[in-house]
Amino acid sequence: MTTVIESTWAVPTPVQLRGELAAIDLPRLVERHGTPLLLLDPARVAQQYRVLRRALPDVRPYYAVKALSHRAALAAIRDEDGFFDVASPGEVALVGGLGVAPDRCIYTHPVKKAADVAAAVRAGIRTFVFDNERELDKFAGVEDRVELMLRLEYRTPDALIDLSYKYGARPDDALDLLRAASRRGLRVTGLSFHPGSQLASVEPLLRDIRHAAMLIDCLAEVGIQIEVLDIGGGLPVPYDGAVPHVDSFVSAIEEEIRPLTRRGIRVISEPGRFVAAPAMLAVAAVVGVGRRGGMPWYYLDDGLYGSFSNVLSDHVHPTIYAYDTIYADDAVERDVVPSVLAGPTCDSTDVITTGAMLPALDVGDLVVAPFMGAYTSVTACEFNGLPKATVVVV
Ligand SMILES: Cc1ncc(COP(=O)(O)O)c(C=O)c1O
Repeated sequence: MTTVIESTWAVPTPVQLRGELAAIDLPRLVERHGTPLLLLDPARVAQQYRVLRRALPDVRPYYAVKALSHRAALAAIRDEDGFFDVASPGEVALVGGLGVAPDRCIYTHPVKKAADVAAAVRAGIRTFVFDNERELDKFAGVEDRVELMLRLEYRTPDALIDLSYKYGARPDDALDLLRAASRRGLRVTGLSFHPGSQLASVEPLLRDIRHAAMLIDCLAEVGIQIEVLDIGGGLPVPYDGAVPHVDSFVSAIEEEIRPLTRRGIRVISEPGRFVAAPAMLAVAAVVGVGRRGGMPWYYLDDGLYGSFSNVLSDHVHPTIYAYDTIYADDAVERDVVPSVLAGPTCDSTDVITTGAMLPALDVGDLVVAPFMGAYTSVTACEFNGLPKATVVVV
């Protein structure tokens, strides 16, 4: 069993955030574009992608476009000679429109319309994921142009988001499904799984790799050779607490995949959050102040139906600082009290946090939240007629 040495990645302090914002004239951007804003740094997208590639040279990362599909973010990955995980016709078109060769993309949605499969094949994509027999029928007519990966269900109840709740075949059913594919003239070359998003530790990922490796062995015994193992996404970022640093994942993952790579099995991954989250900073303004239940309430112009949709869909708790605080010399010491940050819609659910530690704020003051790149702008809507945050590329 692999021993994991944990080094951690911490939430940025106000002073660190000041450093990161040094090159940006935020008040000028706010004057020009208004609020709410999401400041997107494509260089950070590229950097995160490079970090992963360097850390795990034997695992080819297909960036999960769903996490942040802004053209500037995708172009940054393209310019790194990157690879993409797409899951809808819209994502195929986005990536294709940036001139990415289709053989650098895999289509990972396990359940899709037959028309979407056909369109993706026409666009040149060859690798698709499935997790049930009925899905195989959607490849009728293109059998010789595709290869499939079987998505497996490995439950991870301790991950913030268990991505085997909705998709993935039971490993016990794998052989039957592979035989069903073979009967239809389809080639299944790979196995895939997602260990759960925002993993609290590397252990579930290692456990899943181990299980998949055992399955690969069992399949080999009956003459079925698996060529690719897709280990999904899951790498975490520090929203409101330290998380294991990617460095602490690396040696454990490498050790776990080594027996597979030695046998010539290619290992790939589908990172989303790790690449996208650090690349956007949310900026919102206070539009109203109140006092309810003995606590200060600040009503912002962004909330759960906007950029902070990640609170609802992903259960994340972003760290939110008063913009002025990060420039105060006594940044750490300043009087802060537990405060409520509410979003702008009429819905009572639209409360971002009831425990932000903030100084007294007034109408017009700004708040900033780091690590707001993943599953934020992409999942935002315009409920109540309120516009989504403007994404400004910095
Ligand atoms: C199929 C698939 N691949 C990759 C990802 C990206 O995962 P993460 O953001 O945890 O890296 C997701 C997230 O929903 C997913 O559903």
